[in-house]
Amino acid sequence: ALVVRHRMRSSGKWARAMAILREFEERCGTPIGKLRQVADAMTVEMHAGLASEGGSKLKMLISYVDNLPTGDEKGLFYALDLGGTNFRVLRVLLGGKEQRVVKQEFEEVSIPPHLMTGTSDALFGFIADELAKFVATEGEGLHVSPGRQRELGFTFSFPVKQTSLASGNLIKWTKGFSIEDAVGQDVVGELTKAMERINLDMRVAALVNDTVGTLAGGKYYNEDVIAAVILGTGTNAAYVERAHAIPKWHGLLPKSGEMVINMEWGNFRSSHLPITEYDQSLDVDSLNPGEQIFEKIISGMYLGEIVRRVLLKMAEEAAFFGDTVPPKLEVPFILRTPHMSAMHHDTSSDLRVVASKLKDILEISNTSLKMRKVIVELCDIVATRGARLSAAGVFGIIKKMGRDTVRDGEKQKTVIALDGGLFEHYTKFSSCMESTLKELLGDDISENIVIEHSNDGSGIGAALLAASHSQYLEAEES
Ligand code: GLC
Repeated sequence: ALVVRHRMRSSGKWARAMAILREFEERCGTPIGKLRQVADAMTVEMHAGLASEGGSKLKMLISYVDNLPTGDEKGLFYALDLGGTNFRVLRVLLGGKEQRVVKQEFEEVSIPPHLMTGTSDALFGFIADELAKFVATEGEGLHVSPGRQRELGFTFSFPVKQTSLASGNLIKWTKGFSIEDAVGQDVVGELTKAMERINLDMRVAALVNDTVGTLAGGKYYNEDVIAAVILGTGTNAAYVERAHAIPKWHGLLPKSGEMVINMEWGNFRSSHLPITEYDQSLDVDSLNPGEQIFEKIISGMYLGEIVRRVLLKMAEEAAFFGDTVPPKLEVPFILRTPHMSAMHHDTSSDLRVVASKLKDILEISNTSLKMRKVIVELCDIVATRGARLSAAGVFGIIKKMGRDTVRDGEKQKTVIALDGGLFEHYTKFSSCMESTLKELLGDDISENIVIEHSNDGSGIGAALLAASHSQYLEAEES
């Protein structure tokens, strides 16, 4: 009798755990009708953000980039790419139309975590030091002409209110950075001060968001690129807007008639978004509560954390991992999106990758195959929601640009440059996002719209923009 009662109890727990999972699944639902509503809400907010300063949660930031690379860019330029847990320094020799990128060298440096929440001087000091080390390795084939000041394209992947192409004030931090004394400051000024402190003679020629850099880098290789999306630690998009469709722009009308807009779509929110209790508590506990809601359900910084939160609830309320809650499961952000991705892609019949991740990361052993299957399913729910919502965002941009229908029977090609670790490494995520976009576009148009992976285009993009805004350009041209 005892045994029977015990079995009933544990099957009751299993049922409870499944109920938690099913309820979560239901709330994460993204049927196509909902995605259309999200896309429409996105275009509405795009209009509002372009109409006036503060007109929308979508900041629709003016990038001051009114011309994208043509291929004519020439010379040696540097780029610095700061926006996640790593930053990259890059040196590229541009050879013009025929030769394009003749040679490039780069280095990746991980940012010590304490610098992400310290002071502005400490962060920019560290960056300037690393940049100086990299400059010191300038070699035979790849060096700046004597007497010429080095020029840098600075990719800074946070919301910035630009005051010119090469200056702008930080609006707020995102993605786990929080350096109070930098908010409101000109980030180019901060970097320049740090470089001056160590006598590194370099001029920032362009300040760009990673989306804008990716757009520039994408356009350099493919003329049909008109927008760029980052799916990485954070998520965001940039696209080419007609200048006269930007009521809040009071500057001169650019010759091209165009202006690249950094949407900061991570901050998008809408009542149509499927938000669960786990997303709400993640948001409340975050460094930036109430902000970046779209980003918090889509991007790489958060997906693993959402999975952890659901598992924790299953452990606490349904003893999913036994009578005690595994202590590691209570540690925020311990389960990273790459771990989640590895579990999600586990094709072994006994799900041994899942077992090993649970053991190595969460110190949970002795899971049954049935339990591991549940965990894979949970990863699938979280990734699918993120992927489908990002497709809805892309669809929103395509609609805003009027490229969602065939015009005058003409089949115009539309290419969207995609980059970021989530897109690049989480295959189930990227393929779900691409198939969802096709589904939204429909058969008539979907073959004209292409997603192109732009591998680290943002660094090259920044260097290209530095080149087209070089202080030496006019002298060379005349
Ligand atoms: C965050 C930043 C944004 C950046 C994106 C992708 O959303 O606010 O500027 O483009 O992450 O890195």
